[in-house]
Amino acid sequence: MTETIADTRLAVIVLAAGQGTRMKSSLPKVLHRIGGRPLVGHVLDTALALEPERVVVVVRHERELVASAVEQAAPGVVVVDQDEVPGTGRAVEVALDALEDFTGDVLVLSGDVPLLESDTLGRLIDAHRAGAAAATVLSAIVDDATGYGRVIRDAEGAVARIVEQRDATDEEASVTEINAGVYVFQASALRRHLPLVGTANAQGEKYLTDVVALLRDARLPVSATPAPDAAAALGVNDRVQLAEAARVLNARVVRRWQLEGATILDPATTWIDVTATLAPDVTVLPNTHILRATVVAEGATIGPDTSLVDCEVGENATVTRTDATLAVIGAGATVGPFAYLRPGTYLGDKGKIGTFVETKNSTIGERSKVPHLSYIGDTTIGTGVNLGAGAITANYDDLTKHRTEIGDEVHTGSHNVFVAPVRIGDGAKTGAGAVIRKDVPAGALALSVAPQRNVEGWVEKNRPGTGAAEVAARARSAQKADDGAQEQDR
Ligand code: UD1
Ligand code: CA
Repeated sequence: MTETIADTRLAVIVLAAGQGTRMKSSLPKVLHRIGGRPLVGHVLDTALALEPERVVVVVRHERELVASAVEQAAPGVVVVDQDEVPGTGRAVEVALDALEDFTGDVLVLSGDVPLLESDTLGRLIDAHRAGAAAATVLSAIVDDATGYGRVIRDAEGAVARIVEQRDATDEEASVTEINAGVYVFQASALRRHLPLVGTANAQGEKYLTDVVALLRDARLPVSATPAPDAAAALGVNDRVQLAEAARVLNARVVRRWQLEGATILDPATTWIDVTATLAPDVTVLPNTHILRATVVAEGATIGPDTSLVDCEVGENATVTRTDATLAVIGAGATVGPFAYLRPGTYLGDKGKIGTFVETKNSTIGERSKVPHLSYIGDTTIGTGVNLGAGAITANYDDLTKHRTEIGDEVHTGSHNVFVAPVRIGDGAKTGAGAVIRKDVPAGALALSVAPQRNVEGWVEKNRPGTGAAEVAARARSAQKADDGAQEQDR
């Protein structure tokens, strides 16, 4: 042995070359997401928190996709390709080649074990170093060991080997201590023994786990340390485990924000991505998703039944039964119920986007309101504006999109159509039902509906015998009698 306990150099190898057959997916397993981040992204995050000297990620299946996700999650880490020899042992072997003359400890992480935290790994490394072990396995004591490798101990309780479920006898399969797929090795011991691993197993693969028995045969110390929280050792092989991992992670994230001062009424139906941020005194009501880079400021209330993706919500704003993506909602603003905010929506402080309103690529100024039944696209609205119910910006002429510009303090009548490109000047007003095709000067009243004409007696003449004709005749004769009486009074 060339290393000593004092040698504290650390390299990390992340295994991400497998296809993930049991996912039954066209997407490589390690790119499936929980908490808004790919599985391998979580693993890399945890790895980087340990500040290792080197990080090597092994890829093969959908190589380009996985490599670019790795580059995004951890720029600058080394990506190496596994060859056609299958198995976790082979994956580590090619990674070791990339580590060249590295001496020290090698932490091996599985790209599909996303919930482990860096302090658990830190303690594993400490235990490995304290025991001067050649290998230390992170294990877990679980209720249901199905699918995992079992840690087989000898009569003295020392680790003898790891056996995969498919290769296990009934007695071995009944062991509840499983291999979490995370290990610390002395680089030199691994280099010496890994090439000796064969492929005589149910899958015909070169198993990393077989190195444990080889080290033991060479009389090198091997140990296994159970994880304090078995749920964190969860490996994701299928979609059932993916959902389970997502739930465990979400519970962790929700709890974290609760402890930071957010009221989260129903953790089970609240989903918060690891990349979102909640300020103190935010209230989150049930069935709410706060996703990606969403930031919610102090005192805001989100939900129920709301989904925010990459949004910014200002202080004390209220967002109810809303679906919003890439939108900015100002302080004290109100949104919903039943609003749909599409990318590029900016709602000013104390503004309002109300019921059954869709917005896109539009700025709605401070204190401006779009309260009911509207579509606002490619529009700039000034401050203190009120759009009547049913305002529609006709932004698309079948060829291109055009902008609508509405000044400050504009009040529009109900059911207006703004045929873009068009401008409404400051302080202008429009009548009910107007179709605004031409610019409206500041301070003008725009009317576009023809004066109303009533054709008296039309129903009785054209729809004789109908219920409408009958009640109309009755109403008209009552009106006549009334008029006659008034005439006499005069
Ligand atoms: C593995 C362990 C098992 C352990 C479990 C923990 C082996 C032989 N078995 O089983 O003891 O209980 O993890 O979750 O190691 N990979 C490669 N190259 C390959 C094969 C796999 O990089 O050729 C990667 C995969 O992408 C994955 C990880 O290694 O991230 C584990 O592979 P997987 O096939 O899921 O192993 P398990 O059967 O779960
Ligand atoms: Ca696995």
